[in-house]
Amino acid sequence: MRSPGPTQLSLAGRGPLRGRVRPPGDKSISHRALLLGALAEGRSILTGLSDGDDVVRTQAAVEALGAGVSPAVGEAGLTVDGGRDRLGPPGEPLDMGNSGTGLRLVAGLVAQWPGPVELTGDLSLSSRPMDRIAVPLRLMGAEVEGRGPTCLPPVVVSGGGLRGIDYTPPVASAQVKSAVLLAGLSATGETVVREPVATRGHTEEMLAAYGADIEIVDAGPGRIVRLLPSALRPFRLAVPGDPSQAAFWVVAACIVPGSEVLVEHVHVGRGRRGFLDVLSRMGADIEEIPVAGEPDTADLLVRSGPLRSTVVEPGEASGLIDEIPVLAVAAALAAGTTLFRQVGELRVKESDRLAATAALVRSFGAGAEVGGDDLAVEGRSALTPAVVDAGLDHRMAMAAAVAALAGPAPATGTTRIDGWRAVESSYPAFIVDLDRLSSRDGERGELP
Ligand code: S3P
Repeated sequence: MRSPGPTQLSLAGRGPLRGRVRPPGDKSISHRALLLGALAEGRSILTGLSDGDDVVRTQAAVEALGAGVSPAVGEAGLTVDGGRDRLGPPGEPLDMGNSGTGLRLVAGLVAQWPGPVELTGDLSLSSRPMDRIAVPLRLMGAEVEGRGPTCLPPVVVSGGGLRGIDYTPPVASAQVKSAVLLAGLSATGETVVREPVATRGHTEEMLAAYGADIEIVDAGPGRIVRLLPSALRPFRLAVPGDPSQAAFWVVAACIVPGSEVLVEHVHVGRGRRGFLDVLSRMGADIEEIPVAGEPDTADLLVRSGPLRSTVVEPGEASGLIDEIPVLAVAAALAAGTTLFRQVGELRVKESDRLAATAALVRSFGAGAEVGGDDLAVEGRSALTPAVVDAGLDHRMAMAAAVAALAGPAPATGTTRIDGWRAVESSYPAFIVDLDRLSSRDGERGELP
């Protein structure tokens, strides 16, 4: 167990950010790599996994289910020894910490057994709705129990004897799609998930790559995935950098005057690059330099400059839902009013991020208003220092840090972020990376 970081961070503008930074491995891909590695028949080798607590919890969960996880000899990675015969329900509850993705995906995987398997989490996760996975898993034949009408954790899953379903999720959610597909791997018959608007596609794309009997059909903004019960073959995967973490540095480099930052090795695939499109519309100076031999991966060269407002349309939101708090910080320094349309899903993230994002923007002196499910942010030419409580929400903590960096130097006032420790769930080294980017004499190397 790592010792937890500080609960409070004081931060002020430090001048330009310059140099290179490599965000942690993509969290979504890391969770799936561990789960699919546990299911695959043999030894998988994973490098570049996220080092955040969310993924550490998923690793602990697959070990509790019977997979063998060890450091890979001679590589900065892990081996996962998996296979159906090794796995079974754990004797103890699985504590998924702060991670909705972890809990929802593991619930889908364990639904293959009569169970019961109990899934728990921290205070934040314990207030997040699990009915969105309980409904389809029950249709497949599992029993899923939770607290209250929205099935809050702890959640108890008792499955086995699952049957495939044809399901259209009522909310755009990659986690729901993934829970259904993971359960579908061991259901009888075909499992179909129809998404009116496609969400991130890692689960079905990784299942296809690792030998599942699966068909993926893109139709306009939507996607249909058909899966038959399948065994998976082991795989070797180098996880690319997390675009949702990269977004903090990209926005910081845009809004801190004089900055020039190369954000390295970022996954920019379909369903994950939406924040780059939005920032480009806002006039950001971002050059995408593809990484040779690694599809959908780029280095992002970002230089500061003036931003203007934009409208983020409903169809775009699911492709950048995690980036909205930091995009709102960019909007707080853009000319005009930026509108994020139909982003009500933010209410059920690690905190009520719709209210929290509006409050964050206002506390730094810009304008923000929530109308129905829309968020409007009115930009200012400068931000003022603030006191922010991140609660148990890592992305609110880091969005506040980015806003603080664009604020005045320490002499004029310092931003205080309570609950800073939340960053442990996804980006434990955030401050180390920040110190490197803002040091006057640090190792910068030549930028391209
Ligand atoms: C994720 C899906 C998204 C996202 C979350 C990670 C995933 O959630 O917000 O951080 O890895 O599948 P929803 O599925 O609830 O949209």
